[in-house]
Amino acid sequence: MQFGYFDDERREYVITRPDTPLPWINYLGCEEYFGIISHTAGGYSFFRDARLRRLTRYRYNNAPLDLGGRYLYLRDDRSGQTWSPSWMPARSALSQFTCRHGLGYTTIASTFDNIHVETTYFVPLGETLEIWRCRMTNQRAEPADLSLFSSIEFCLWDAWDDATNFQRNFSTGEVEIEDGVIYHKTEYRERRNHFAYFACSAPIEGFDTQREAFLGAYRGWDAPLAVERGSLSNSVAHGWQPIGAHHVRLSLAPGETREVIFVLGYHENPKDQKFDPPGSQTLNKRTVKPVIARYLDSHQVQQALDDLRAYWDGLLRIQQARTPNLHVDRMVNIWNPYQCMATFNISRSASLYESGIGRGLGFRDSNQDLLGFVHMVPERARQRILDLAATQLPSGGAYHQYQPLTKRGNNDIGSNFNDDPHWLILAVAAYIKETGDWSILDEAVPYDNLPGSETPLYEHLQRAVQYTLDRLGPHGLPLIGRADWNDCLNLNCFSDTPGQSFQTTTNKDGKVAESIFIAGLFVLSTQELAALAERTGRLEDAARYRAESARMRELIYQYGWDGEWFLRAYDDFGNKVGSQECQEGKIFIEPQGFCVLAGVGLENGYAQRALDSVARWLATPHGIVLQQPAYSRYYLHLGEISSYPPGYKENAGIFCHNNPWVMIAETRVGNGARAMEYYLRINPSNREAISEVHRCEPYVYAQMIAGKDAPTHGEAKNSWLTGTAAWNYVAITQWILGVRPELDGLRIDPCIPPEWEGFTFRRIFRGAEYVIEVRNPRHVSKGVTAVRVDGKVWQGNLLPILPPGVHTIEVELG
Ligand code: GLC
Ligand code: GLC
Repeated sequence: MQFGYFDDERREYVITRPDTPLPWINYLGCEEYFGIISHTAGGYSFFRDARLRRLTRYRYNNAPLDLGGRYLYLRDDRSGQTWSPSWMPARSALSQFTCRHGLGYTTIASTFDNIHVETTYFVPLGETLEIWRCRMTNQRAEPADLSLFSSIEFCLWDAWDDATNFQRNFSTGEVEIEDGVIYHKTEYRERRNHFAYFACSAPIEGFDTQREAFLGAYRGWDAPLAVERGSLSNSVAHGWQPIGAHHVRLSLAPGETREVIFVLGYHENPKDQKFDPPGSQTLNKRTVKPVIARYLDSHQVQQALDDLRAYWDGLLRIQQARTPNLHVDRMVNIWNPYQCMATFNISRSASLYESGIGRGLGFRDSNQDLLGFVHMVPERARQRILDLAATQLPSGGAYHQYQPLTKRGNNDIGSNFNDDPHWLILAVAAYIKETGDWSILDEAVPYDNLPGSETPLYEHLQRAVQYTLDRLGPHGLPLIGRADWNDCLNLNCFSDTPGQSFQTTTNKDGKVAESIFIAGLFVLSTQELAALAERTGRLEDAARYRAESARMRELIYQYGWDGEWFLRAYDDFGNKVGSQECQEGKIFIEPQGFCVLAGVGLENGYAQRALDSVARWLATPHGIVLQQPAYSRYYLHLGEISSYPPGYKENAGIFCHNNPWVMIAETRVGNGARAMEYYLRINPSNREAISEVHRCEPYVYAQMIAGKDAPTHGEAKNSWLTGTAAWNYVAITQWILGVRPELDGLRIDPCIPPEWEGFTFRRIFRGAEYVIEVRNPRHVSKGVTAVRVDGKVWQGNLLPILPPGVHTIEVELG
């Protein structure tokens, strides 16, 4: 069952009824100012940091789930009827409803009693504000007298404090109102030099800034008293809950359309120019007024929307596929890179599942997010790499997270996740492959942000490798530390105290438990580093890293192979995890996917056997589960993984992030049919038809789909902010369609379902446009037999870096 459809031409998902199984959201903004917006206008906005600079208030896990947002209300001033044109919060009986989630904007349109209202929400490029452009059309035969009300609830900046510190916060709220613009300036009198504002393009009848005045005592957002009454009371908030609400009256002739624009924004003043006149307590509005004036202008707004479209045209044009499968094309060409932008920007901080007050940017997560983003805005990827590296510790290890506002490592979440530093190597390698910008390796970057500790970035990568070499266990395999990629495999935690964090509790010295996953990651990262070393003339380093890689591979064969698949780990007692010998958790997905992806087991048949075991034990119609059998009880020595009920999250859920590792692994053994099969099982567009089962948005990946042990098998959770986005994008574009940037050029090495006749792929790479036509006349999965570049025969399948311009590449498989 579907709740909407894809409009591929306009690159929108069109939701056609408001009662979707869950709120289906979109992101506004792609630089500094961000918002989440649900299909019924729920959500909130922030500047850079979802916790520390929250503009509007949102209550998580509310009932209904999604309440609070960018709500408009309409009132028919003749009949007194009122309604919500976005359905929520009044759940009005609309005669028509559509929500179009597009790239960086959302348009909600509805009709109520022949009044059609269409509101577009977006953030103009380069600005720290959002626009609500509301167009109302009178479709009646007679004139309509309407009142339009806007509403938002301000957050007092630090969202955590805002949600907890009421003894203070009920007294601190302050606003100013000037020329119909509502300014929110709580804490501006003391240490803040930023404020929020909410403006309206039409002359207003009135405003409210105190929540109770607007809603009425004991009322909620579904039925504000002021809307019912048809007038606001010009309330000025002193403490309590500052809000912004405008009232605009409109008389519309039959057929007439009117547009009203609202602007909600964030603004900073220089610290010594906060007040105007100086010495007063009045906001200095000199620099914000021109910004407000600009975006209350209809032409400017249209221009900004056109610019946003053009921006996305440019980003998406870098990689475009046309294949025999619609779901491949739709995700590759539109939604998957779009989701990669969101994960790059927001990491795991703000979604319907991430409260914006919990997590900053994860070291491991951000490095992986970059893999799906680097081709779009490489300069930003470069900066991110340097920021991440600057939080690395002198030991080579990493803080697990950092706060985007301060760019400082976050101690609350701890460190010693022993996989963390290796992801930096993969990110740097991906960046250089995409751009050819070797200079990044020479950038001076500090450790733990300590001035004076700078070394070239290259040395950071070396220390990452050394970090593991300094932490090898009894079998010579990498010690797992607090956990590896699987945050919940806590082999040194041994927590029996309720509420203790699995992420920060360690009760063992950590000298025994080893991770075969990290071993696989190490094999890959040392190969990558060796290649970087070689190309920069560090031949001894290159040889050393190759030797380390080979040594680790041998250790995996010796101590990390269980007979039919790769082991997962050794626990603190030196016992196997992920082995036939285990009662539960006999086989795990991560080492199968990652070891093979890294090339382990290709030469001795282990790779094929491991992947056959995945197909046999872990694959389901909804994706590949994390392990089997699921843990049926809590095991002290395994930690959080066994805290989840069977089939959810890391305990045998379909953790979509690691499914693409298996897809890539399948391409490495040449099984294009299986790679595509796995790809389609979790592809959200392909799952659209079962939206009542999947429940999350059909246009983006979710972190998890409930596994076969769960009563709700097939149900997705944690949509949007997941490494699934980057890895699926890498899997489909670079390994299945096989167009892969390498240090010396563009490799073309598809691994596709044999029945495909071929496909085309356009790729802008290092300044040239490659128009690649792949033909598959002999219906194979893999194997390039002939290549022509601009009509001339080319040897091998590594395309050179071509001069600017459009180039025709003909590729034949056989
Ligand atoms: C979450 C975390 C990620 C981790 C994964 C598996 O997605 O953000 O860092 O690797 O869970 O536990
Ligand atoms: C929990 C989740 C895991 C996530 C971690 C982040 O352990 O199960 O997915 O990575 O929290 O702190």
